[in-house]
Amino acid sequence: MTSPIPQPPGLPLLGNVKDVDPSNTWWSLKTLADKYGEIFQIKALGHKIVFIASAALAQEICDEKRFRKYVGGPIVEIRYTVHDALFTAFDHEENWGIAHRIMAPLLSKESVANHFDEILLCTQELINKWKSQDPNTKFQPLKDLNNLNLEATALTLLGKKLGCINSPQEHPVIQAMEDATSEAMKRPNRPKLLNWLVYGGKFKRATKTLRGFAAECVSYRKENPTDRHDLLWALMNSTDPETGKQLTDEQVIDEIISMPIGSSTAPCALTSLVYYLIQNPQVVVKAREELNTVIGPDGELKHEHLSQLDYIQGIVRETLRLSNAAPGFNIEPIPGTTGPVLLQGGKYQIAHNQPMIIVLAAVNRDPTVFESPLEFKPERMMGEDFERLPAGVKKWFGNGKRACIGKNWAWDFLMVVTARLIGEIDFEGAVGEGWGEKTDGWFNVRFIDFWVKAKGRV
Ligand code: HEM
Repeated sequence: MTSPIPQPPGLPLLGNVKDVDPSNTWWSLKTLADKYGEIFQIKALGHKIVFIASAALAQEICDEKRFRKYVGGPIVEIRYTVHDALFTAFDHEENWGIAHRIMAPLLSKESVANHFDEILLCTQELINKWKSQDPNTKFQPLKDLNNLNLEATALTLLGKKLGCINSPQEHPVIQAMEDATSEAMKRPNRPKLLNWLVYGGKFKRATKTLRGFAAECVSYRKENPTDRHDLLWALMNSTDPETGKQLTDEQVIDEIISMPIGSSTAPCALTSLVYYLIQNPQVVVKAREELNTVIGPDGELKHEHLSQLDYIQGIVRETLRLSNAAPGFNIEPIPGTTGPVLLQGGKYQIAHNQPMIIVLAAVNRDPTVFESPLEFKPERMMGEDFERLPAGVKKWFGNGKRACIGKNWAWDFLMVVTARLIGEIDFEGAVGEGWGEKTDGWFNVRFIDFWVKAKGRV
């Protein structure tokens, strides 16, 4: 006997439009998951979407023999900006494979390790900035971390120094990413005419800024030839070993833009990290002991240390779990499946073409997997304890073929920034300015109104 999939009551004709706030979709979904549990559905504007909120169900629908990435809604909308780039390509599009095979070797663990010094240099620049400012200054760490992330992404993958860490202004690419992704999230829920007449201009301007930035990176490389074999070099010169094809000029731009959009998730995770460190001073003490043991009190962080910093690895994983900085991903049954699809051995039943969204805020806090799921406990993310966790709660970088191509870069970046911040900075919450756990976001989620003070350690 299958159980019905719970659905909020909704309104006649309009369905569940009121259950999801279009300006804070992921917060609404987290709230619905808290209320309805492991699976629920909403119906609006003639569409039904099923949401997955438990580790067991997430694990089941990550089985690539039965399911695949669903390219729909906001992902289709952002194709206006990046066309059939890696993140947005439909399964049948040949360019996904061509771009993947050209790019993946430059984002392997080994290739990313070659960028360690550049990541460290950018991180040090931010640490120096925070150390030199008045320790009573209240600031939003997300803004500085966004700049750090963009700087490090551009320097390592595109070989271009932007100089945005110490700049008083936010780099225009950051606002353009916010505008393009927020538009992409909102458009599926608005009438087409309204999208075109009222909001089309914003989408167009943001896209122009992003494509202009990418085109500048290409021109800069052409005007400043180098023997650097970085990602930009591969995008501009490599040939796909399978088809013998190269990327067109347009495709190079599409893929360049996808890099800062993808990596913009990392500063959201790091902002959460700052929050969890402030809330858990005992974690900071333990991490500093580890840094002392592995690197020594006056030693310099080296790439080989990253794999020895077990506790800091636990901190990074626990941050990825609780921050759910990439808030979810879309799945559908593999086409050709006939008849209804059964989940959990027949407990639930969905249509053969039913889109589903994994809500990581719920999956990563599944109480059947984690004791005290809201607590920040790096220990459970270390060694054998981490290995023993079910695969469904380790999906912060997505799944299978369409998992994050930047995961090695993100891992090294998060490890370096975490180790250096813990080693060098004492944070304090600037309570009284909306300091708390409420989040918002589009393709990523981050704290709203999160202010801190930072003091360099002597
Ligand atoms: C904390 C950091 C990051 C997290 C949590 C994260 C998470 C994810 C997730 C969940 C997906 C799967 C999306 C889906 O199935 O629709 C994904 C895909 C992707 N990510 Fe990341 N990501 C991070 C950093 C990065 C970085 C640094 C880059 C680029 C340098 C990047 C580029 C991409 C791209 C291009 C895809 C699409 C891959 C494909 O479909 O072939 N991400 N990421």
